[in-house]
Amino acid sequence: MAVRNGNAEESLSLIRKSLRSPNMDLQGTHFDGNLPHVFITLGASGDLAKKKTYPTLWWLFRDCLLPNNICFYGYARTKMSVNDLRQKCHQYMKVKPEEKERYEEFWKLNHYFAGNYDSRKDFELLNQELSRHEPNTGVANRLFYLALPPSVFEVVTVNLKNTCFAKRGWTRIVVEKPFGKDAQTSEALSNHLASLFKEEQIYRIDHYLGKEMVQNLMTLRFGNRIFSPTWNRDFISSILITCKEPFGTQGRGGYFDEFGIIRDVMQNHLMQILSLVAMEKPASCHPDDIRNEKVKVLKCIRPLTLDDVVLGQYIGNPDGEGEANTGYLDDPTVPKGSNTPTYCLAVLNINNERWDGVPFILRCGKALNERKAEVRIQYQDVPGDIFDGKTKRNELVIRVQPGEAVYIKMMTKTPGMTFDMEETELDLTYGNRYKSVSLPDAYERLILDVFCGSQMHFVRSDELSEAWRIFTPLLHMTEKQNIKPIPYVYGSRGPQEADELIRKSNFKYYGSYKWIKHH
Ligand code: NDP
Ligand code: BG6
Repeated sequence: MAVRNGNAEESLSLIRKSLRSPNMDLQGTHFDGNLPHVFITLGASGDLAKKKTYPTLWWLFRDCLLPNNICFYGYARTKMSVNDLRQKCHQYMKVKPEEKERYEEFWKLNHYFAGNYDSRKDFELLNQELSRHEPNTGVANRLFYLALPPSVFEVVTVNLKNTCFAKRGWTRIVVEKPFGKDAQTSEALSNHLASLFKEEQIYRIDHYLGKEMVQNLMTLRFGNRIFSPTWNRDFISSILITCKEPFGTQGRGGYFDEFGIIRDVMQNHLMQILSLVAMEKPASCHPDDIRNEKVKVLKCIRPLTLDDVVLGQYIGNPDGEGEANTGYLDDPTVPKGSNTPTYCLAVLNINNERWDGVPFILRCGKALNERKAEVRIQYQDVPGDIFDGKTKRNELVIRVQPGEAVYIKMMTKTPGMTFDMEETELDLTYGNRYKSVSLPDAYERLILDVFCGSQMHFVRSDELSEAWRIFTPLLHMTEKQNIKPIPYVYGSRGPQEADELIRKSNFKYYGSYKWIKHH
């Protein structure tokens, strides 16, 4: 997707072609760049809109990836002008001096309309506004992006359905998590959406599905004969899927406390990665073939219990600076004495022929020692040892961020006269191998997918309900019994009990591996 330095038109048509091919038949739609398109951000005055939605639209527009005939609408309660909106977004747009002209063009295509979320009349007026940008005859497509709190979700979608559907052309709607708080609320939301829209119209975003390395999992697994035969319980000892963040709630404690780390990261982002790592090979790359396999593997996981997890909550580090010396409970937006976990390690078993007995260890947390998201596949010990126990287990590591990389940790003879052995790696670090490629942001890919009508990287409602089935009993149990998470210090590796559970789950940490960075 490195289009900025190449021939934009050529890259554009290639990208569109590759994106739309898998499910064109399913939806009967084409990405025709010359048709009128309107992109409507609902909740345009909010945080997500200014930090993610508008910057993403700008980057896609800057790179000529959007339809030629497009305009953008913002809708929210706040009365403001496009210029006010522009000021709010500006610091997140990353505009380079040479892009100024293009940036002006972008804002010229923007409009803003203030209205209430529960007023049908206001949505009727919005519809009239949108129609002004569409020809009376022919096709015009509408894409609604819901950057809204869950509290107004239902009323807005009803109003959209009643007043704002495209008359000729497609209507698609993009929804952001949270998709409910447990199995019951999620099902209610899914039923509500299903009563208004067809599944092909709904794009549920899990932005981890837009990350380069998460998208690469399918290719790595099914495009390499070297991996497929060993991708199972006969060779693999355990799989560790991690998402660590080095900062706390940063004043977002009020929101976070209602959800906790399991709902915020594990039930969605980590489970999506797990299903791509563990699923069987789909019949084709058609989005529904892939999503069928993801659902199938989730069905083989039984609901978690308290014995399967370690929960933690960060406390301030007295020696830390700034945010680091404040604990979760010191955040004034967090209710006093809250037991909401900010760290979770969970061990899942997939009860099928491929994976039975292989622990899938999911781990995520705030205020930890580093920023890192990765999948670590640890292979078994070599049987019939002839090297006096010196061999260490192989690991295949897929680093999602920061610094995308795939590396295999392996044993080699120490180079030179000696017959000793040492740990080394086969290293595919993207920053070295693909120096001139600039990887797009996850949101850029996903929003472009919505234009192209490709649901491959979006969450289907049955995937969602399976993921909630696995976590709901645990969530209810911790909340009902008011389970106290284990305190861990801001900037540490998390609770020691978590490392203990990793060890018990057939993952060996040697502490001997040294990586020498090459430039
Ligand atoms: P390590 O052997 O250092 O770590 C392996 C695993 O052990 C990690 O999952 C780590 O998890 C875990 N671990 C660390 N401490 C403990 C502990 N006390 N108890 C239990 N588990 C523990 O190997 P790495 O693969 O992490 O490599 C080391 C460094 O080299 C990394 O920064 C890596 O990114 C870099 N590297 C980069 C390459 C590249 O870019 N191509 C190639 C090879 C290495 P945890 O996340 O908890 O720390
Ligand atoms: C979001 C969570 O979904 O993902 C945040 O709500 C989290 O709490 C974020 O920080 C992590 O995303 P990324 O892309 O920065 O790894």
